[in-house]
Amino acid sequence: MQSPPFLPHFLQLHQADHRALAQEAATGLLAPAASVSPKFLYGVLGSRLFDAITELDEYYPTRTEAALLSQHGAAIRQAVLQATGLAPALLDLGAGNCAKAARLFPALAPRQYVAVDISVEFLRESLTQLQRLHPALPMTGLGLDFSARLALPAGLLDGPALVFYPGSSIGNFSPDEALRLLTEARAVAAGGALLIGVDLVKPVPVLEAAYDDALGVTAAFNLNLLRNLNQLLGSDFNPRQWQHLAVFNAAESRIEMHLQARQALQVAWPGVLRPFAAGERLHTENSYKWTPGGFAALLRDAGFGQVQHWTDDAGWFAVFLAAG
Ligand code: AVJ
Repeated sequence: MQSPPFLPHFLQLHQADHRALAQEAATGLLAPAASVSPKFLYGVLGSRLFDAITELDEYYPTRTEAALLSQHGAAIRQAVLQATGLAPALLDLGAGNCAKAARLFPALAPRQYVAVDISVEFLRESLTQLQRLHPALPMTGLGLDFSARLALPAGLLDGPALVFYPGSSIGNFSPDEALRLLTEARAVAAGGALLIGVDLVKPVPVLEAAYDDALGVTAAFNLNLLRNLNQLLGSDFNPRQWQHLAVFNAAESRIEMHLQARQALQVAWPGVLRPFAAGERLHTENSYKWTPGGFAALLRDAGFGQVQHWTDDAGWFAVFLAAG
């Protein structure tokens, strides 16, 4: 058994396969209604553009969630202790730079911290830094793609966990997929709890502005996906030929991001020519918006017996704590 000061452990479970990713992107592009997964938005520049989005006036989720977590830290701690009976392991599914979870440390005093990201490389620097500030807290960086399935190696968590999934990232999942992920999160928590940020239904102009800001940062974020596809496929998408669109689909209760061809054009990559008509769209992201009652029902369907939530005064964003 080691004793403090600890060093973080790193474990890569997911192997990104270039050929499989390229195949997935090509299949989506060649479908009659072209679409690709929002994971193709990210990368070095994409992640920076997303960070910039979180600073925008129009993009309320990040700051609203941060305020809710800091305002209700004591109540969250109490509810978590009630569920787990002891200091929980903190399993961070929103890791990236680990900053959101680190802000919970004072209130939660976790006995273990496990940060999950698709690539362990994204975690190395932030976790090493964070370990210096908390030398007695055992830390693990885990490279895992939980979008298909959330499961951990046996024995990784040494007891009940608080699963932390901030940022309304659950919004990228359809209701069916979200139910599956929440059910798996409950199993992984092993008698602990889930703390999750959820973006709420609100007036459409507020929603559409959050995804189509005045500075054009979200437009750049969306258009940058074309650069990522060019790199992955060797394709020749020209971002100047495409227009960013953000529309609220009320029937599905989701913001959709699309890229719309400004003119008739063709995109080529080795062995393929994909024509797009003027006005034709490439669907790049869904961001589902929930009502508090709708999300509480989803958590109950996932098996959680105790569900509570906090919202801001405007009712724009919610933090849910689910246990049992
Ligand atoms: C990272 C999925 C939570 O849906 O609000 C922000 C991504 N897309 N602006 C969201 C996003 C456009 C974001 N999530």
